[in-house]
Amino acid sequence: MRWIYFILLQCLLIVIVAGTVCIHKDSVILVKKPPESLSQWYKPENKRQVWLHNMFKLRREMQAVRFYSDSKDAKHLGKWAGSLSDHYLKIAEMVPEWKELLDMEVISRLEKNAKAGRYQDVSHALDDLRESCESCHSDYRAITAAMYRAPDFTSLKINPSTSFKAHMKKLTQEVNQIKIASEDGMKDIALSSLSDLKKDINLLGETCVNCHKKGAKVYPSDTISKTISSLEQSLKTGTAKEQGRDLGTLAVLACARCHGTHRLAYDARKIFSDKPRWLELIKHQ
Ligand code: HEC
Ligand code: HEC
Ligand code: HEC
Repeated sequence: MRWIYFILLQCLLIVIVAGTVCIHKDSVILVKKPPESLSQWYKPENKRQVWLHNMFKLRREMQAVRFYSDSKDAKHLGKWAGSLSDHYLKIAEMVPEWKELLDMEVISRLEKNAKAGRYQDVSHALDDLRESCESCHSDYRAITAAMYRAPDFTSLKINPSTSFKAHMKKLTQEVNQIKIASEDGMKDIALSSLSDLKKDINLLGETCVNCHKKGAKVYPSDTISKTISSLEQSLKTGTAKEQGRDLGTLAVLACARCHGTHRLAYDARKIFSDKPRWLELIKHQ
């Protein structure tokens, strides 16, 4: 009767796991991850964003089918209903794991009604199809965009010996050193930190061309350079208030703007793409 112990052990394990999840339910977020096979339809595995373009086609085809069924134009309706069906079924070809999420009944009903010129029924089928689109989107749309489309800074380096992240730490230290020194009236330290910051901002600007076309994203922009000059002036002769204002403006223009797009998106990507940290999950924190 050894197998009884085996089953008991299994039950015990299940209880422990369920209990752990339950205890932590307020501090964890459960999200559904898209299947691995989706990655082949995105960069870098694919040269184009194939998946996304199939989606754009679907949206256009839904609009066309609606338009031609409302205007009772059988010829054009047939054409667009056909491609809508093709691209809808392509979802399962591209990601076989998602086949079960497709509503085969609705899509074939839509095509049949389109062929038969039953415009009212086409319209109802479209409404039902939209529900199928939305149910997958509410589970997977946002996470997919974050995982596969957010620009990836993981392997970006400032130079062979400086990682992007280390450079960020340096920048932030320089900004704070200026603030501290200006508050305590140490003009020379403030000015020399500003000169370091200026150099490091220029260095950072050389990395943009890794992804942006040359000249498309000029960093530092003219406005940033002007703010640096203005800060330099106020550190020399200005009031504490002027110094604070210039430094604040610089931090918004040179740091916060980019963080608003890049850091936010990259952080989200990392949260979803990194391996789960089970130890941290189990710790009571
Ligand atoms: C099995 C899952 C699934 C189904 C079914 C599905 N989609 Fe999508 N769709 C996605 C995912 C995942 C994304 C996110 C892609 C991205 O952002 O890179 C997406 C994104 C989109 C987008 C881009 C959204 C945007 O605003 O950027 C459009 C448009 C779209 N889908 C249309 C449709 C239409 C129309 C249908 C139904 C006919 C449909 N999709 C059915 C998974 C699905
Ligand atoms: C790893 C690749 C990568 C690097 C490096 C990169 N970018 Fe971007 N950036 C992108 C992509 C891709 C977009 C388009 C946004 C999207 O579609 O998600 C973008 C968009 C932006 C945007 C918002 C949209 C716009 O055009 O105004 C800003 C601002 C920006 N980047 C600034 C910068 C600056 C400044 C640098 C260098 C300091 C930089 N980026 C470096 C990939 C990158
Ligand atoms: C390309 C646009 C961009 C610009 C411009 C930028 N940052 Fe960042 N910053 C990022 C990204 C992306 C990360 C996330 C890097 C990572 O986690 O590896 C980041 C992370 C950081 C971090 C956190 C580092 C850590 O240890 O996790 C600090 C601090 C920081 N930036 C400060 C600054 C300061 C100060 C400036 C302006 C002088 C600045 N950044 C300008 C994109 C930018």
